[in-house]
Amino acid sequence: MDKSKVLVCVAWPYANGMQHIGHIAGAYLPPDIFARFSRMRGHEVLMVSGSDTHGTPITVLAQQEDIPPAEVVARYHPLFIEAYQKLGLTFDLFTHTDTQIHWDVTQEMFRKHVENGLVYRDTQHQLYDPESAQFLPDRYVVGICPFCRARDARGDQCDNCGRLYDATELIKPRSTISGCTSLEIRETEHFFLALDQMNDALLSWIQTEKSFWRPQVYRFTLSELERHEMRGRPITRDIDWGITIPLEGYDDKRIYVWYDAVIGYLSAVVEHAHLDGQPDSWQDWWKTGAQQGSRIYNFIGKDNIPFHTIIWPAMLMGRRDFCLPYDVPANEYLNMKGRKFSKSRGVIIAINDVVERYQPDAWRYVLTAMAPETADVDFTWDDFVERVNNELVANWGNLVNRILGFAYRAFDGVVPEPGALQGEDYAVLSEVERGFVEVGNLYEQVKLKGALEACRRLSQRVNQYLNVREPWQVIKQDRPQAQAIIYTALQAIDWLKLMWAPILPFASQTLHEDLGYEGKLFGTQYTKQVQDARGEHLVLRYDHSEATGVWQAGRLPVGQTLNPPRILFHKLDLETVLATEADLVLA
Ligand code: MF3
Ligand code: ZN
Repeated sequence: MDKSKVLVCVAWPYANGMQHIGHIAGAYLPPDIFARFSRMRGHEVLMVSGSDTHGTPITVLAQQEDIPPAEVVARYHPLFIEAYQKLGLTFDLFTHTDTQIHWDVTQEMFRKHVENGLVYRDTQHQLYDPESAQFLPDRYVVGICPFCRARDARGDQCDNCGRLYDATELIKPRSTISGCTSLEIRETEHFFLALDQMNDALLSWIQTEKSFWRPQVYRFTLSELERHEMRGRPITRDIDWGITIPLEGYDDKRIYVWYDAVIGYLSAVVEHAHLDGQPDSWQDWWKTGAQQGSRIYNFIGKDNIPFHTIIWPAMLMGRRDFCLPYDVPANEYLNMKGRKFSKSRGVIIAINDVVERYQPDAWRYVLTAMAPETADVDFTWDDFVERVNNELVANWGNLVNRILGFAYRAFDGVVPEPGALQGEDYAVLSEVERGFVEVGNLYEQVKLKGALEACRRLSQRVNQYLNVREPWQVIKQDRPQAQAIIYTALQAIDWLKLMWAPILPFASQTLHEDLGYEGKLFGTQYTKQVQDARGEHLVLRYDHSEATGVWQAGRLPVGQTLNPPRILFHKLDLETVLATEADLVLA
């Protein structure tokens, strides 16, 4: 790592519904694991995101419910924060896009883009619905995808193939408001992002040192750019909800939600800087040059790829001295019985509904073990229970119980003198210690499932060591040797505690205390109301000042007083889980 600042950017969820476990597995838990690891590793980390409050995803729901769009946002924004807090997602700032700072930063970007010619004015041909007497942007129209022929493709992007197009290219377009199929094409004036100007620059950027990108992210982006067919894309809309255009004469139009949402990665860092009382410090993260900026990671689901590897980088290149994304670790989908989780199709396990029924670490474990890093994955409750019981409880939980329970009883609740270690003791210790390199590299490369598997293998290795060394037998004849074994095992789980910590922060904290340490491996999350010229908004924040967790093999102090060991993970009963979740399983 040449840059020590790591900016963890998380996709901004549309504030139009609760998130389901597929969202969490895809784009919300992975950045937290990565951010926690990076902080332990000693990097300076900021993890930012917020609710995406604009555009047709919000207005369509508002119209259906006959309420103002702001009310839709006010309902879901706090629910995101509640779920993230319960899952332990350590956002340094989770805000939303209807704040004064976000408006200012977005309008400033727009003005700069107009000034330097990256954004220009032109006439657009737009679908118009004569029955409801309005233009049909984005989610107000569906049709057949011009590229892959999928049905019910939306006006701006196809859910199936992920490609972007103009709504007028849809085959058999239909209004989602009136159902009208005899749509007109009318002319309207809009602002366009000159992606055609950027095609070559984007292509050379993506062809430089991106070999570590996930293959599906790289391939999608490369194939779009290699066509050399990038065209200007309209970035304003004929709607009345969203950020206003900072130029005279466009009161009846708004900025396209995707143009403003990606700017959130920048505006959230600006807001964070303000909240910390150092308003200029955002530049240290975003500006190239003397400060070098930061390594920027964009955690997203696969449907967001073109916005993060083409449009947003083009917008940033248009500002010249801004950092570009370093990695875009997009995930595939976590499905339910082969169907994409989708609220409208009734396939959903809302995180807010289930988060408290199970331990947060159980969710974090299972969703990481199943993570759809390279292909879609099916979620089933059977699998959930199986992984909790046969992996989490049986492997790591059980190892900790065996060692701590025995050590606590047999050695008066203190860490015993190691005495003379033998070959096998040294062997297991050096293997586990090497985990700081092996597991660390996997976290660093955002191979989180791989990191989990490596932790599991090392935990299993220590379980086997205990089975061979049998301290509970040895102690009957040879107390010093039993001490050596137990010291070795305690030291091993003390290290494993750190390796597991990014994935299982709650359990690692418990174990940390039970091993007799004081202090906290991680900082504290808290919420706060922020007042600005647009009103009040709730934010989720993270205070890392009291965190002590470091990524290194420290020595477990001999004589340290242990605490009565607690059970880290609860076993689940399959029948009970299936009965409890019956209404959430598709018939
Ligand atoms: N709101 C979008 C979605 O849920 C994601 C936006 S990511 C952003 O698909 F950064 F661009 F905001
Ligand atoms: Zn398609």
